[in-house]
Amino acid sequence: MKRMLSGIKPTGQLTLGNYIGALRNFVKYQDEYEMVVFIANLHCITQPQDPADLSKNLTDAVALYMACGLDPEKATIFLQTDVKAHAELGYIMACNTYLGELNRMTQFKDKSAKGEKNLTAGLYTYPCLMAADILLYNPDYVPVGDDQKQHVELTRDIANRFNNKYGETFTVPEPLIAKVGARIMSLQDPTKKMSKSDETNKGCIYLLDDLKVARKKIMSAVTDSVGKIQLDKENQPGLYNLIEIASSLSGRSMEEIADEFKDEGYGKLKGYVADVVCAELERIQTRYHEILDSHILEKVLADGAAKARAIADKTLADVETKLGLEIKY
Ligand code: TYM
Repeated sequence: MKRMLSGIKPTGQLTLGNYIGALRNFVKYQDEYEMVVFIANLHCITQPQDPADLSKNLTDAVALYMACGLDPEKATIFLQTDVKAHAELGYIMACNTYLGELNRMTQFKDKSAKGEKNLTAGLYTYPCLMAADILLYNPDYVPVGDDQKQHVELTRDIANRFNNKYGETFTVPEPLIAKVGARIMSLQDPTKKMSKSDETNKGCIYLLDDLKVARKKIMSAVTDSVGKIQLDKENQPGLYNLIEIASSLSGRSMEEIADEFKDEGYGKLKGYVADVVCAELERIQTRYHEILDSHILEKVLADGAAKARAIADKTLADVETKLGLEIKY
């Protein structure tokens, strides 16, 4: 069985973008692949976090993984800091990554271009930790949204370089990016990605949003003045995004949805998108409360960490040997 690995960084509440671009695909693949999914808590602290909020977000993220359908009997689910090999291999990866490569990473470039102050060294070297997260498990595929593609490509470069220098060690993984829903855009600014760090909160739907709030965000989504429902990503990006959201969640094609509403007003389409989104949120939220009430998170994470450690520690030991980090008695 081929292996897949992915993770989410819960710096805030998980979003509809995380669900459509990543989480729901983990669920889809768990029957076909050996799925390894973790909560990237070390990545969260690359930017300042309130400790109480962070801890709550981590708990919610695990509960949401399962509420969205990840089954701990099928997938290995764990917290990054429960497997210490991530931090060590992250450091080793940093020693095998060039500054020029990190300088090209658009996420860091965008943040520094915006003039954000006090950016940390952790944020800069974060792609090295991400490479370690992946390579420790030698996965064949890494299912991610479009914005993480560059990081997976860097991981491939680092893996190839390491293999060439020290001998075959890592599987070189492929990013797996869905055709529809790989980049869900902000409802308030469809030129920007829907993101946990949305300043106004209006452009982003959170999986735990009150259903009325979620509906309102969709009904007030920014569209255009063209006045015609059709698929024109360039000139009608807001409308396109709404149709893409509905298509991802309903399994209907974007063309079919656009065609159904071609003679209607934007309000009608938005109402349909809101129905589809709210039905999905309601299902997830009901499961989320059941999971929290059942107090199974601790056991799920302990079992997941034990399984993950067995794989990761073996890879790390091999890397240490190849690098000559051990003393042979
Ligand atoms: P993060 O937490 O920003 O996002 C988690 C996953 O959700 C996807 N995603 C989206 N997809 C579609 N539309 C959106 N608006 C949207 N927003 C987010 C992301 O592409 C991602 O797949 N560095 C990673 C976490 C990570 C990781 C890893 C992932 C750490 N180590 C190893 C894979 C493998 C991150 O910050 O994702």
